[in-house]
Amino acid sequence: MYTLESHGFQKFKVPKKNFNYLIEFKNLVENTSNSIINKKQKLNNIHKHNFDKEDFNSFRLKIFNQINNKKNIHEIIFRIYDDLIVSLIGKDICVQKNINFSIQRPFDQQRAPFHKDSPPNSPYEIVVWLPLVNCFKDMSMYLFDIKKSKKIDYFLSKSNGISHDTYAKKNGVCCECKFGELLIFSAPTYHYIPVNSQKDSRWSINCRYKNTFSPNGMKGYLDFFEPLRYSEITKLAIKYEEK
Ligand SMILES: [Fe+2]
Repeated sequence: MYTLESHGFQKFKVPKKNFNYLIEFKNLVENTSNSIINKKQKLNNIHKHNFDKEDFNSFRLKIFNQINNKKNIHEIIFRIYDDLIVSLIGKDICVQKNINFSIQRPFDQQRAPFHKDSPPNSPYEIVVWLPLVNCFKDMSMYLFDIKKSKKIDYFLSKSNGISHDTYAKKNGVCCECKFGELLIFSAPTYHYIPVNSQKDSRWSINCRYKNTFSPNGMKGYLDFFEPLRYSEITKLAIKYEEK
């Protein structure tokens, strides 16, 4: 079993009591998608829609904008796994302003490169990766033991004839994740998205959280993060300071 403490990443289950929130969010995304393409299409089958006339990237952008513009979107998502995040980083929580979407049709080559988020992000951030469909085999992503980060830094700095894909599949952990499960990894943990060679489209969101009082990364705090929750003591301090 891979744990955040030992490896920098861990798989969790959405608590039963919050499962309805997960379904509600998935429905919100599916309804948004349907309204954009003007047709009913399940998320995992989005590749069956003909995007000839409409560029797929513009579809991605519309999903990103419309979901991020929903009122209280951070609360809608955070309630899916709130206790889990509090147990990891405490009650003073800030969240990345925009939620990222990853929509990957079968054999789509377009994806993020092999990377880690920190630096430039703060090593005190965690990334939540929440799939909206079952992600088996290479529909999921590869995560790498944080203890191997120096070795990977070296690998990525050299051109040695080994492809990122080959290296990742040999040295990474393919974190299959069903709908109802989520991955959490720390920002300095390397990750790699393979080409999805399954028959379904992959839909996932990722969002970063950090304790408000932990050190910031190189990116400006107010440009990228906003407060989400305050602890009782912080609420008291803010109130007291105002007087
Ligand atoms: Fe990343």
